[in-house]
Amino acid sequence: MRSHYCGGINESHIDQEVTLCGWVHRRRDHGGVIFLDLRDRDGISQVVFDPDTPESFELAEKVRSEFVIQVTGKVRRRPAGTENANMSTGQVEVLGTALNLLNAAATPPFPLDEHVDVGEDVRLKYRFVDLRRPEMLNRLKFRSRVTSYIRNFLDSNEFMDVETPILTRATPEGARDYLVPSRTQEGSFFALPQSPQLFKQLLMVSGIDRYYQIAKCFRDEDLRADRQPEFTQIDIEASFIDENTLMNLNETMIRDLFRDVLKVALPAFPKMPYSEALQRFGSDKPDLRIPLELIDVADLVEAVDFKVFAGPAKDPKGRVAALRVPNGSQLTRKQIDDYTKYVGIYGAKGLAYIKVNDLSKGIEGLQSPIIKFLGAEVALAIMERVSAEDGDLVFFGADRTTVVNEALGALRIKLGHDMNLLTTEWAPLWVVDFPMFEELGDGSLHAIHHPFTAPSCTPEELVASPETALSRAYDMVLNGTELGGGSIRIHDESMQQTVFRVLGIDEAEARAKFGFLLDALKYGCPPHGGLAFGLDRLIMLMTGATSIRDVIAFPKTQSATCLMTQAPGTVDEKQLRELHIRLRKPPTPSAGGNITAEGVMKVDESGNN
Ligand code: AMO
Ligand code: AMP
Repeated sequence: MRSHYCGGINESHIDQEVTLCGWVHRRRDHGGVIFLDLRDRDGISQVVFDPDTPESFELAEKVRSEFVIQVTGKVRRRPAGTENANMSTGQVEVLGTALNLLNAAATPPFPLDEHVDVGEDVRLKYRFVDLRRPEMLNRLKFRSRVTSYIRNFLDSNEFMDVETPILTRATPEGARDYLVPSRTQEGSFFALPQSPQLFKQLLMVSGIDRYYQIAKCFRDEDLRADRQPEFTQIDIEASFIDENTLMNLNETMIRDLFRDVLKVALPAFPKMPYSEALQRFGSDKPDLRIPLELIDVADLVEAVDFKVFAGPAKDPKGRVAALRVPNGSQLTRKQIDDYTKYVGIYGAKGLAYIKVNDLSKGIEGLQSPIIKFLGAEVALAIMERVSAEDGDLVFFGADRTTVVNEALGALRIKLGHDMNLLTTEWAPLWVVDFPMFEELGDGSLHAIHHPFTAPSCTPEELVASPETALSRAYDMVLNGTELGGGSIRIHDESMQQTVFRVLGIDEAEARAKFGFLLDALKYGCPPHGGLAFGLDRLIMLMTGATSIRDVIAFPKTQSATCLMTQAPGTVDEKQLRELHIRLRKPPTPSAGGNITAEGVMKVDESGNN
């Protein structure tokens, strides 16, 4: 139907006849001449109709925004003074001779201009219109370039693309499963995969050697800006390989991708042990663009009268840490109050601080509501520990270690942005030496990655001291976002059973849930490992989008619904009966058919949305 894309017309086409198809972006009537900006995926061309072609001219008068048309005409240079240097097609225009109206369009629910602010609920409801906006279209184009680049990279490194099932059993990645009832097996359910983890390990047992898949994953978890219930992983696994080779290969892939697609030279990725990341940054995904660090001061405040500090300082599960903010003494009372509220989101009960006015005056040069509780000696010792300078402000967190880490970890990021402290645009790293397990509130152990991760110790050592055992896992972190993670896996059946036992999964349960994996480990399983990247997060970071919703064609809202299709929806009684399901309560009137925007932009606990 067309000879060129609208965006592809330029001076080399002058005097040629072209046929373009697309949407009317704008129509301007300049008394006697009609200008149509015609838009398609590739860009915009200006088409001019004059009364010399009365039939087309009349039609051109009738078209409105977003009408779909076909235009034939001759390319000519724009008259001097009317060129548009901002458009790739800005030197030329098409003098239309024929106009074919392919389809009319209702007035769009919102204007498509890039700079018009539109509520996200409306954009999601009319996503098909939203995706016409250049901003959104460009992100999808970019995403497609990235997946194609990654496929090429992995293909040329001997990785084989293999698809794994969507209707499967629960895959333990730590989130709730999406379940699909079985019609043929009454009372049984499939689970949608939280990742292809077990299947990719089985592919290694099969001898596939190097596998990848751009795979959809499903997790029913609390959503936020970098989490969707349905998201995409670049999933990778390889055999006869160790963690350093795997990390190097994946680092090369990401560095090459940034170099070739974004023209960005990423620095080499440092490797940081998990314990150091928590100690210095309060997070296992530290944002290294921000130079602020947590410094332990528990030993200095153990004996003070101030219980807020002394309590956690003496508690083996407590932490007292300081965060020195260079030039922070300029913060106002109101700003400090706001930061105190902010850390409250993470469970901090307060946010003590000391302003450093003039160190040469000793204790007189410090200003703080807590100095009277600490005493001069302790206060000055803290100043020395954190290398305080005049004009600084030092914040404190004192609580259970997890609360201090989360609160001060989030605060350092917020301060870094608020005070423009970022030292670089891109700060990647590997976080390594994760513990195998973490303790849950009830004292039980939980696998930090997943229960197939190999420990760096023997089964005997693991059983003797599971709390201190480290794993052969690694996460890739970029600018404070966990881009991907993986590990060397257990390839030995007895080690796998040991891990299940430590996790409190008895033999019968292990057999019932993962019998096929335990069987596979018996039949010649090679040593293997891999990792998975969050593709949506990668694209979000590379495009500078603030939410992964903006890099997914049809995302879900914060409450895991689709405003456009109104999914999830109710189903009729007959379908339920076939699936052997009876609802405990009749569907509420709002369920299915009337999903509202509520929750689209709900701000989550961490202040993200
Ligand atoms: P993990 O659970 O760490 O590992 O997931 C890998 C990466 O997937 C991304 N991701 C998400 N992205 C968007 N929305 C979500 N809800 C979401 N959850 C995770 C993150 C994360 O780093 N099977 C293992 C990988 C392996 O061991 O090979 C796994 O799934 O970027
Ligand atoms: P209070 O004695 O509770 O009035 O607290 C004195 C100062 O300590 C205030 O600035 C509080 O914000 C701060 N504070 C209270 N609890 C904590 C805590 N757990 N960690 C850090 N600072 C705290």
